[in-house]
Amino acid sequence: MHTSVSKLLTLFCLLSISTYLLHLAPPPTPPPRPLNLSILLWTWPFGRSYSLEGDPCRQMYNITGCFLSDDRSAFATADVVVFHHHELRWAPPSSSRSLPLHLPRPPSQRWAWMSLEPPVNSGDLRPFNGLFNLTVSYRRDADVPIPYGRTVPRSAGGRRGDDDDDAAAAAPLVRNRSCLASWVVSRYKPTQARAEVFRRLRRRVPVEVYGRWVQKPLAEDRLLPTIARCYFYLALENSNATDYISEKLWRNGLGAGAVPVVLGPSRATYEALAPRGSFIHVEDFGSVEALADHLRRVASDGEEYGKYFGWRRTQEVKTYGDWRERLCQICVRYPGLPRHKVYHHLDAWLGGPSCFRFFY
Ligand SMILES: *[C@@H]1O[C@H](CO)[C@@H](O)[C@H](O)[C@H]1NC(C)=O
Ligand SMILES: *[C@@H]1O[C@H](CO)[C@@H](O)[C@H](O)[C@H]1NC(C)=O
Ligand SMILES: *[C@@H]1O[C@H](CO)[C@@H](O)[C@H](O)[C@H]1NC(C)=O
Ligand SMILES: *[C@@H]1O[C@H](CO)[C@@H](O)[C@H](O)[C@H]1NC(C)=O
Ligand SMILES: *[C@@H]1O[C@H](CO)[C@@H](O)[C@H](O)[C@H]1NC(C)=O
Repeated sequence: MHTSVSKLLTLFCLLSISTYLLHLAPPPTPPPRPLNLSILLWTWPFGRSYSLEGDPCRQMYNITGCFLSDDRSAFATADVVVFHHHELRWAPPSSSRSLPLHLPRPPSQRWAWMSLEPPVNSGDLRPFNGLFNLTVSYRRDADVPIPYGRTVPRSAGGRRGDDDDDAAAAAPLVRNRSCLASWVVSRYKPTQARAEVFRRLRRRVPVEVYGRWVQKPLAEDRLLPTIARCYFYLALENSNATDYISEKLWRNGLGAGAVPVVLGPSRATYEALAPRGSFIHVEDFGSVEALADHLRRVASDGEEYGKYFGWRRTQEVKTYGDWRERLCQICVRYPGLPRHKVYHHLDAWLGGPSCFRFFY
């Protein structure tokens, strides 16, 4: 059984791996000058729109000179036109959701490709090669990086700003919990690495499962409280892709105050992006069984468990959910962008998912 699963995965990986050319764009330090940029959003991601009344970048995020619009009559004068990949991908040819290739494209106008989905969910990107000038993505090497979350210094007026030892910072979180680990999953595919990790973990330790897969969906307001009852949250990504760390870590795990057990990119990537010592990486263990034993041991030892919260003394997590904030980030990065750039190989830039190492 395991052998056939791993053979399937190996085959999939061999098929999907090829060499990729990375367009690395180190952001040069731009001279400060007043900005006056108009950003046109072609379609709202996943059909959900937000109000652009007033000047949201300034009013909500203190970013000036950054004007957002979703009114297509502004196409001819927009500095940047932003296309969200999901709608482009599924747009029937020459429909209102597809690229306006029939309109004259102003020579100085930049087209931005925006997506927060990993390659495994992105389909064939080759039809979009040679059309975009900038990328807006969770990847660190995107022109405009928009991660699902990040670590920020704990604000001076923050809730726990006066605590100055790890134990104090962790105290409210080191409590007896009624559940060892939970997992929320909507699309369960038995051949995914995360499914294999889950199955083998559950043979050794209890895991509470929620989500559409088990017909136990959690309403928005029940999600975090439910996860917070458990010591650990399984923040298992659906694929292993460069820098792809989703809301599973940022919102469900760190946001709920459950220690995330992560499967995704390498430990080095998590170390670079997530708070120090905040997570348990599946790859740190020789087997899923050894991971299970570790979870059991840590949950029964308040001091050990508390170590996973030490970072909260100086840091906190900021998650991003509002697409307006992501769009405003284009203006923050714009002055540092190269004057001319074309993604001739967008497919190669995003790359494919790479193999998950297995544990037997
Ligand atoms: C920004 O540019 C637009 C047209 O490109 C112009 O109408 C507007 O006055 C400018 N605003 C500022 C504050 O410079
Ligand atoms: C807004 O940004 C300006 C310039 O970056 C800064 O001086 C100011 O303190 C910021 N205001 C707030 C409320 O963050
Ligand atoms: C957790 O439960 C154990 C055994 O029931 C008890 O001895 C301990 O004091 C509890 N700890 C906390 C932090 O409530
Ligand atoms: C943007 O891409 C288009 C299409 O390849 C290209 O013609 C144009 O010169 C590029 N513009 C910039 C500013 O890089
Ligand atoms: C994910 O891919 C990276 C890069 O190829 C690799 O270093 C890492 O070991 C992989 N992660 C797992 C869990 O297999």
